Amino acid sequence: SDIQNIQDVRSLIRFIPDFPQKGILFQDIFPVFQNPKAVEFLINHIVDHITSTIKEKIDVVVGLESRGFLFAPIVALKLNSAFAPVRKEGKLPGNTINAEYKKEYGVDTFEMQEDAIKQNQNIIIIDDLIATGGTADAAGRLVKKLGGKVLEYIFVIELTELEGCKKLDAPVFSIFK
Ligand code: PRP
Ligand code: MG
Repeated sequence: SDIQNIQDVRSLIRFIPDFPQKGILFQDIFPVFQNPKAVEFLINHIVDHITSTIKEKIDVVVGLESRGFLFAPIVALKLNSAFAPVRKEGKLPGNTINAEYKKEYGVDTFEMQEDAIKQNQNIIIIDDLIATGGTADAAGRLVKKLGGKVLEYIFVIELTELEGCKKLDAPVFSIFK
C-alpha cells in the first residue's frame, strides 16, 4: 500500500479481459482510487510535469466525460486554474457548441458550454486514456472553436499501438504507455 514511485501506481491498474465486450482487455483505473496515496502521487506527477515543462499560466484545465473528470478538476485546483467539462450530447445546460467523433460503432457528439473558455486562453486537456484519439481530437476542436490554445493533451494511459496521438495537433504527455 506504500507508494514510492510511479511504477507503484501503475501496478494498481487492473486488467479485465472481455470487458465491456469479448476481445477487449479493459484497463481499470479504479483500484488506484482505493489508495489515496496513489491518487496523490499520480496527481502530483501530472502537476509537476506541467509546472516544470510549461511556462505559460494554464487558464483552464478541460476534462473529458466521464473518466477525465477524475483527474482534471484536482489538477486544476492544484494549478489554481479553472476547470471546464466536455460532456456527451444533451448533458450541459445553456448555450453549447458541439463536435462529432467516431467511436467503435457510429458517431458520438461532445459539447462544451460557450462561456467555458475565453479568446486566447491557455488550455490543457486531460482524459484517462487515449486509444484511437478520436475523443481527444473532438475535445481539441471544441477548445479551438472557443478561441482557446491547447498547450498539451495529458492522458494517464496511452494505447501506443493505435497511434491516436497522430490525430492531435499539440504535444501529448501520457504517463503509462
Ligand atoms: C474511453 C476513454 C477515452 C476514450 C478513448 O471513454 O475514457 O475517453 O474512450 O478512446 P479513443 O481515443 O479511441 O477516442 P469512453 O468513450 O469509453 O467513455 P467513458 O469515459 O465515459 O467511460
Ligand atoms: Mg472516456
